[in-house]
Amino acid sequence: MTSKPEPTGCFVYITLPGTTEAVTAARFELTTNRSGIRFGRLVYGKSYLARGDAVSIDPVELVLGRDTYETTKMNGVFGALRDASPDSWGRRLIERHVGKSPLSELDYLLESPDDRAGALSFGLGQKPPAPRRKFNQTIALAKLQAIADAIVKDEELPADPEVAQAGELLLVGTSMGGARPKAVVEDDEGLWIAKFNRADDKWNYARIEHAMLVLARGCGLTTAESKVASIGTRNVLLIKRFDREKTEAGYRRARMVSALTVLGTDDSVQLREKWSYVLLAEELRRVSGEPKKNAAELFRRMCFNALISNTDDHPRNHAIIAKRHDWKLSPAYDLVPSAQVSLEHRDLAMICGDQGRVANANNLLSQAARFLLSDDEAKSIVDAMKERVKGTWYETARSVGASDKDCERIAGAFAYPGFDRPWMASHQTRMRSERGRPGCRM
Ligand SMILES: Nc1ncnc2c1ncn2[C@@H]1O[C@H](COP(=O)(O)OP(=O)(O)OP(=O)(O)O)[C@@H](O)[C@H]1O
Ligand SMILES: [Mg+2]
Repeated sequence: MTSKPEPTGCFVYITLPGTTEAVTAARFELTTNRSGIRFGRLVYGKSYLARGDAVSIDPVELVLGRDTYETTKMNGVFGALRDASPDSWGRRLIERHVGKSPLSELDYLLESPDDRAGALSFGLGQKPPAPRRKFNQTIALAKLQAIADAIVKDEELPADPEVAQAGELLLVGTSMGGARPKAVVEDDEGLWIAKFNRADDKWNYARIEHAMLVLARGCGLTTAESKVASIGTRNVLLIKRFDREKTEAGYRRARMVSALTVLGTDDSVQLREKWSYVLLAEELRRVSGEPKKNAAELFRRMCFNALISNTDDHPRNHAIIAKRHDWKLSPAYDLVPSAQVSLEHRDLAMICGDQGRVANANNLLSQAARFLLSDDEAKSIVDAMKERVKGTWYETARSVGASDKDCERIAGAFAYPGFDRPWMASHQTRMRSERGRPGCRM
């Protein structure tokens, strides 16, 4: 018996603004060139380009205007397509489902279900399949949690047909990125990402992440809506999807790309110098319809992350979305404090000022103009937020059911002593010399 040839490409479908059904936008081919380098080519379809309502897949790389785009970055996978592909949690589930590991990037795109972040979907047929109408309901959370637990422990799922069916259900949600166990569930309001606690978590993540989102709202940030559900003695965090809007006709989908794509970078260490709030502010100013509002929102988010020691603020934890034509910074999500040892020095994952990644007030203020803020405006945001975080984190966490023990575990994360530490001359000198380097945009 001859095996089916592996696909080397797929069609890219998009759900256009204001609609609930996908149309074919482009063809994507992933091949290896003569030098052995993975090479991606995307060609927008002629009939798509002829539509009056066609939109770009993303506002930085695949901008309508040409019809063919090529890349060798990220193994040939354009950032916007990689953003629509699963991360470690989803990949693990898909590998279990398919019974093969690792799979090709194209396999991950084609095997993951169509509830991925953003407005894209993928398939082998020239015409998009009918949109999915059935999702896991919140009522299935207990079952989903049990399966997620078994997968985290690398256990075989019981041979019970009901569980096997639920195992299939957990695949719904694998397209969402991130490393934590999660699933997508639906209720009358719409779609939610259910994030499950793990047995080896240092604290009750569901309650603490929810508390951080509530605290962030209190500090004036726009965040994803969240709530905590209880399943027996366990808690699950439910985050409302901001890229979906439930309507009578089905779900509208917002386009969504990560900051990694906006910054034209990837996860590799060599490209980490582009992991920068300052550069992201500049890109946002370029692509968003309301530059001043978006840049200020990013500034507030950066300050908040520094004040709660959220050092996992990597560029996949920021995104831009377009519900209609204009792009804007997405609501904040994945806000988690970290238990840090140093009282003096903490680094964010992204550059936030002249001193690099240092989560320090002076550093945050050093590039205020790039966020379209005057020095006074920036300073008053930092000062007010510091007081708010310091003064309210505990009562906020307790009010959403975080235990006193968990609060003790995370207490050192908030407005740590080094946040107000004076600027160190050695850092200043280093950053000046880096700024002088050719090609450095800082
Ligand atoms: N409310 C939301 N609406 C739409 N998409 C979202 C929302 N929240 C998160 N996402 C998308 O889902 C991905 C995973 O979510 P999240 O970052 O919360 O998971 P995680 O597993 O904690 O991630 P990490 O691996 O960074 O710890 C995000 O990178 C983002 O693309
Ligand atoms: Mg994340």
